[in-house]
Amino acid sequence: MNSLSDIIKSRKSIRAFLNKEVDSNLIKDLLTTASHAPSGGNLQPWKIYILNDKSMKKFLDFQVNWKGQENPPYPIYPEKLKEPYRTSRNEMGEEMYSLIDIGREDKVGRLNQMLKNFEFFGAPAGLFCFVDKQMGLPQWSDLGMFLQSFMLLAHESGLDTCAQESWSLKQGCISNFLDTPDDLMLFCGVAIGYKDPNSKINELRSSRRPIEDWATFVD
Ligand SMILES: Cc1cc2nc3c(=O)[nH]c(=O)nc-3n(C[C@H](O)[C@H](O)[C@H](O)COP(=O)(O)O)c2cc1C
Repeated sequence: MNSLSDIIKSRKSIRAFLNKEVDSNLIKDLLTTASHAPSGGNLQPWKIYILNDKSMKKFLDFQVNWKGQENPPYPIYPEKLKEPYRTSRNEMGEEMYSLIDIGREDKVGRLNQMLKNFEFFGAPAGLFCFVDKQMGLPQWSDLGMFLQSFMLLAHESGLDTCAQESWSLKQGCISNFLDTPDDLMLFCGVAIGYKDPNSKINELRSSRRPIEDWATFVD
């Protein structure tokens, strides 16, 4: 795995991690390199909080006992998601649940799998990506470029990741634990660790729609 194309093509979301330590210095180096991502006007609007080992355990304990209000900052998906997006989302979900033998009717099984998001899927490290509430749509795309750079660099260095918008459902708890300034809004979390090679869920390889579906070469 040397070329950028190989790294891009072999990265995938990992949803079960080994209990294997992640070096905080490595995360720091990867974040520093990822900050070379472009951003409109060079605003670099990302604000990142990192949890690792002890702070991860502290956070997960805090979260289990959190009884405060939650007021999700944004809807994760648009209401009445249009085609072809709806099908892509459903297919990914069905492929994932069928890999781990959770049937369509097994609501409890699906819920329990979804709740693993809130354990960072067992990853010993993770980050939360915030953005100043003043920022708008263009700056949110900058966050995406930064996060993709980070995830690719992590993959290059042998680490695995899963971006997690589900954490937006817990913004109250997270902001309270981190004591973030009021002007910051949570975008997502990213689980960081080493994949469990024996876990079925990590066999998921999500499909992509063909280029003809989303690119138009203008004559
Ligand atoms: C911003 C963002 C948020 C995501 N949130 C979640 C999440 O909350 N839980 C989850 O299991 N996967 C989440 N994913 C992973 C996507 O489901 C995954 O990227 C997509 O299905 C494509 O698969 P791949 O990453 O394996 O290529 C997220 C991905 C992105 C980019």
